[in-house]
Amino acid sequence: MLYLYLALGIALLGGLLYWLLIITEGTYLGTRVVIFLYDLVATRYDGIKKLVPAYESFFLGAPLVRALGGNPDPLVLDVASGTGRLAQALFAEPGFTGKVVGVDHSRRMLSEALRALRKRAGERLFLIVQDAAALGFQDAAFDCVTCLEALEFMGNPKRVIDEMVRVLKPGGVLLLSNRVGKDAWAFPGRMCGRGRLEGYLRQLGLEDVHGERWQVHYDLVWAYKPE
Ligand SMILES: C[S@@+](CC[C@H](N)C(=O)[O-])C[C@H]1O[C@@H](n2cnc3c(N)ncnc32)[C@H](O)[C@@H]1O
Repeated sequence: MLYLYLALGIALLGGLLYWLLIITEGTYLGTRVVIFLYDLVATRYDGIKKLVPAYESFFLGAPLVRALGGNPDPLVLDVASGTGRLAQALFAEPGFTGKVVGVDHSRRMLSEALRALRKRAGERLFLIVQDAAALGFQDAAFDCVTCLEALEFMGNPKRVIDEMVRVLKPGGVLLLSNRVGKDAWAFPGRMCGRGRLEGYLRQLGLEDVHGERWQVHYDLVWAYKPE
């Protein structure tokens, strides 16, 4: 009987650790753990993701350029920019003539972004180590703010969204990802699953809020700040 309880205890502990460290990537253990884990995998991150440039253009680069249409020199903020995925998608678009500011708490993820983008982006890319929950920019500074595959790893996603909306110009475009799909239930309190994120954005007064299917685990959510 003792062995049975012992085996049960070990299985429960293993399951808990798997949920805390692998599925939810440390988010319920605090920002430091999340960033420690991203620092750890930074050099392998792009290899694990295996992004396809054509999809990146179809879902991110091209629609963003269209959304920023009339603006000849847009300033884009990518929050939790990681290894520079969004900047790569934008700089690959011939129609994108603006600048990108990437903010991430993981120094090593940003080092990878710098390595990948230094030549192509030149003076049009700025990378800053910063916590997404306290963006060091003035109000209404950016024409576009994005945050992809990251909100569910933040201790207080609402605060991060409030910050992103604060630094967005009136008329500016907000593009977020929303964790959906089978494992969304594993992120309690992180606004995952269809509808919650969209509801919060509408509550903040954003306009034309709409979700779009993107990947197995993520939808894209578009919204605009009223003029
Ligand atoms: C799954 S990666 C996504 C990176 C990139 N947006 C992409 O789509 O490839 C999540 C990123 O969020 C960053 N991150 C997590 N918590 C953060 C926080 N509180 N402030 C800033 N960045 C954070 C991590 O360092 C990591 O680079």
